[in-house]
Amino acid sequence: MDARTISAWFGERQVLDRVSLTMPAGVVTSLIGPSGCGKSTFLRILNRMHELIPGASLAGEVVIDDDDIYDASRRVVDARKQIGMVFQKPNPFPAMSIYDNVVAGLSLTGMRADRARKDHLVETSLQRAGLWNEVKDRLRQPGGGLSGGQQQRLCIARSLAVTPRVLLMDEPCSALDPTSTRVIEETMLELARDVTIVIVTHNMQQAQRVSQQCAFFLAAQGTPGVIVEHGATDAMFDSPIDPRTYDYVNGRFG
Ligand SMILES: Nc1ncnc2c1ncn2[C@@H]1O[C@H](COP(=O)(O)OP(=O)(O)OP(=O)(O)O)[C@@H](O)[C@H]1O
Ligand SMILES: [Mg+2]
Repeated sequence: MDARTISAWFGERQVLDRVSLTMPAGVVTSLIGPSGCGKSTFLRILNRMHELIPGASLAGEVVIDDDDIYDASRRVVDARKQIGMVFQKPNPFPAMSIYDNVVAGLSLTGMRADRARKDHLVETSLQRAGLWNEVKDRLRQPGGGLSGGQQQRLCIARSLAVTPRVLLMDEPCSALDPTSTRVIEETMLELARDVTIVIVTHNMQQAQRVSQQCAFFLAAQGTPGVIVEHGATDAMFDSPIDPRTYDYVNGRFG
């Protein structure tokens, strides 16, 4: 996935300025940077959620396999099918069963599946999300009855059920305990083989554990966010080029 010269505005206020980043398949990319520098905005632009916010606008291109997701001939639902999103706070449909939560995205994206196909999708998606063994005997119980970490993995399974090419994750572990966090990190590393993953995280250890590529966002006082530096995660942490990257990854600010 390729983001090319992305700028974003809320009303008159510009919050991103010509941000470009290639997010290769098979690689986990982490987006880091202080609060308010535009990471979530950038992520929302990658799956056409930014345009849902009243007064929000953008410029630039988001290309996946040579197709611009903002091309006038393309529908928003096609982008959503290809590009899933997992949020900071687990958001399953609480009264809906675990089973129905997993397949909830199918009808929303206009995909049809018979019972056997759904059964298969539920099992494989829950397995890929690392949740199957914990819930396989209670698929008919409500999603809201799971622990926070389980709910987040349920949301990952729900995203995976529509077989996206890209999975965007906005601070997916920040509401979770260390054990659940580890399980989700392991899940991400497994998934990365066939889904392109982009994760926003404030946890520098997490960025180092899960990502092979890293981009550092920064919005200097009163100016829109930019990518100061990006590259291999090891290099970003061990030998960053920009002194602001060095200060940030070493906890000097943000
Ligand atoms: N719905 C909105 N309306 C107006 N301004 C917004 C909206 N959402 C975000 N902003 C502004 O856009 C800028 C970027 O916000 P964004 O949420 O993308 O930052 P972030 O890097 O994700 O921060 P955090 O690490 O705190 O999540 C901020 O200045 C924020 O106040
Ligand atoms: Mg954010």
